[in-house]
Amino acid sequence: MSSLKIAIGSILLRNPLILTAGILGTTFSSLNRCYAAGFGAVTTKSIGIEPREGYANPSVIYIPEIDSIINAVGLANPGYITYGQELKKIDSEVKYIMSIFGSTPDEFQLIIKYIQSRNLVNPPKAFELNLSCPHATKGGISVGTDPEIVYEIVKGATSVSRIPIWIKLTPNITDIKSIADAGVRGGATGIVAINTVKAMLIDITTKKPILANIRGGLSGRAIKPIGIHAIYDLYEYLGAKTPLIGTGGIWNWQDIIEYILAGATAVGMGSLLFNYNNLELSVNKLITGIKKYLETQDMSISEIRGLAHEHAQI
Ligand SMILES: Cc1cc2nc3c(=O)[nH]c(=O)nc-3n(C[C@H](O)[C@H](O)[C@H](O)COP(=O)(O)O)c2cc1C
Repeated sequence: MSSLKIAIGSILLRNPLILTAGILGTTFSSLNRCYAAGFGAVTTKSIGIEPREGYANPSVIYIPEIDSIINAVGLANPGYITYGQELKKIDSEVKYIMSIFGSTPDEFQLIIKYIQSRNLVNPPKAFELNLSCPHATKGGISVGTDPEIVYEIVKGATSVSRIPIWIKLTPNITDIKSIADAGVRGGATGIVAINTVKAMLIDITTKKPILANIRGGLSGRAIKPIGIHAIYDLYEYLGAKTPLIGTGGIWNWQDIIEYILAGATAVGMGSLLFNYNNLELSVNKLITGIKKYLETQDMSISEIRGLAHEHAQI
């Protein structure tokens, strides 16, 4: 059977399946477990400066009619100092990405420098900058919606980091390409798209918004076409040289192929895991599906990347 090995810049993975940030990434044990189940890499929960409890419950709701999740967990995390201890317990063979967030370039730099100063036996393979936090001094706008701020943050991060810097993009913006462009100019060597899509639900009996935080973000099956569109745009704009990690709504191996045809090098998966009771079996099923597809096409995983762009011309 064909190999699914891929390279995201200098990072070599056994397959393109990456556990996305925020789902099962809070403890070392769940990261170890996901990697053992077959993922090519796993991503930590996004970690910031201060410990955050996050928003009150209900904060995560499954919507069965559309196989999707609406959440407003509010970047709950233990803070970078406590999390530094957690990282020490990640198994040595586990390839992981550390997701971090902040409100200013300094905050991102502080976390990167601290983690690097820990001299971890198994350090992260990349820092993924989650750009969804509100900017400290710009009236609550999300840092990821302003190209200038993105450039400053990424430039600051790459200037202190010894490992690759990836950025995670929000779809809640008019032109995702301008943000990606700012990130690449700042030195990002991987782009993860997309984060959750702004959403909300109302209970018609109580007439109340369902999430305690009122507004939240949608993930899962309903957002796949939005993710595919983002990756297609980014590949068209940036070309094949920038690795893209297609994320959003992956539910089966066919969705993974679709992202790769749109231009993704690898894929992120999260909400799907809420449905898994046998993680290992399910990850294996995805891998077998991809391998069989590649065999029927008589092509390698890198050969099918971005093919939808060529076929769009036919
Ligand atoms: C409960 C929950 C928590 C999340 N936490 C984070 C996070 O900490 N950092 C981040 O970058 N994305 C976070 N996300 C977004 C996911 O990483 C991913 O981008 C999004 O869910 C789309 O992928 P999916 O449809 O496969 O879940 C979270 C999503 C959910 C559902």
